[in-house]
Amino acid sequence: MRRESAETGGAAGDPPAATTPARRAEERDGLVQRRDDVALPDTPAAYRRDVEKLEVELLMEGIFRQYGFDFRSYAYSSLKRRLWKRIQAEGLATVSQLQDRVLHDPAMMEKLLLDLSINVTAMYRDPSFYAAFRAEVVPLLRTYPFIRIWHAGCSTGEEVYSMAILLKEVGLYDRSRIYATDINEVVLQRARAGIFPLDKMQEYTLNYLRAGGTESFSQYYTAMYDGARFDPALTRNVVFSQHNLVTDGSFAEFNVIVCRNVMIYFDRELQNRVHQLFYDSLVNFGILGLGSKESMRFTAYEDRYEALNTKEKIFRRLS
Ligand SMILES: C[S@@+](CC[C@H](N)C(=O)[O-])C[C@H]1O[C@@H](n2cnc3c(N)ncnc32)[C@H](O)[C@@H]1O
Repeated sequence: MRRESAETGGAAGDPPAATTPARRAEERDGLVQRRDDVALPDTPAAYRRDVEKLEVELLMEGIFRQYGFDFRSYAYSSLKRRLWKRIQAEGLATVSQLQDRVLHDPAMMEKLLLDLSINVTAMYRDPSFYAAFRAEVVPLLRTYPFIRIWHAGCSTGEEVYSMAILLKEVGLYDRSRIYATDINEVVLQRARAGIFPLDKMQEYTLNYLRAGGTESFSQYYTAMYDGARFDPALTRNVVFSQHNLVTDGSFAEFNVIVCRNVMIYFDRELQNRVHQLFYDSLVNFGILGLGSKESMRFTAYEDRYEALNTKEKIFRRLS
C-alpha cells in the first residue's frame, strides 16, 4: 500500500509536491515569493537527476568559495563521473554527503583535487606531435635569440622532460626557458623530482624514437631503486609553478604555448576564456600546440591563428 506523506499528500520517497499547504498559505499571504519558472520533473528518475545536478553545482560553488579552485565550468559528465569515484571510495551515498566532508576537511579537498584533475600523462605522449614539432616548429624557433615556452597543465612533468630533450637534441635548449605549470601542487612536486617508473622506460623509448629522437634514450636517465631518475641538467632552464588556467592571468610573453589534454575537460565558455589567456600570452606569430584531441574550431579564436599542422593542432598566432 502506498504510504502517504502527511504534509504533501504524495507517496513517501516520491518527489515532494511543488508546494506544501503551509507554503501555499504563505504565498497567498504574500510572505514568500516563489519563482514561477520552476517546474518539477515528471518522473522520479528525472527528479533525482535534477537534484544531483544541483548538488554538483553547489559543491563546485562551495569548493570555489572555500578553497579557490574553480571547477564550475568543467564538463559536467566527466565531473560527475569523478565525483562518484570519490563518493564510492569514501563509502558515501550522495554528492551532498561529499560536500559536507570536503567543506569541513581540507585533507578531503586534497584527495578530491587529485580526482578532479586527471593527471594521466606520458613521455612523448602522441609521438607524432613531437615529430611535427621537430619538423615544423623548430625551424621557426631557430630564428629567435631567446625562446620562452609555457607548458600549461603539465601534470607530473613527463611532457616537459620530453620537450627539454627535444630542444637539447636540436641545439636550442641553452637559449630556451620552459615554464611548466599545473593547478595541482602535488603533481608538480613529482615533476620537480624527475623520477618516473622504471617499467615505463621501454614504452617511453619507443615513443622517443617515433617522435624523432636521435640519441640513445637511456642516456637521459639513471636507473635507481625507486625509478628512472632523469638528468637534473634537463631542468636547469625549467621553472615549475602552480598556475590555475581558470582563475589566474598571464604571467609572461611566450614564443610557444603547449597545452594538451587539458581543455577537453572544460566547457565551451571556459575554453574560450583559456584561449583568450593564451592569445594574450603569445608573441605575434607565436606557436600554440594543442595536440590532436583538442579543438580550436568554434572557439572565438579560430580566425586569429593559422594552422601549421591540422592533425596535431599546431597553430601560429596571426598578428
Ligand atoms: C590529463 S593531464 C594532461 C597532462 C599533459 N598535458 C599531457 O597531455 O600528457 C591534465 C592536467 O591538467 C591539469 N589541470 C586541470 N585543470 C587545470 C587548470 N584549471 N589549470 C591548470 N591545470 C589544470 C590537471 O591537474 C592535469 O595535470
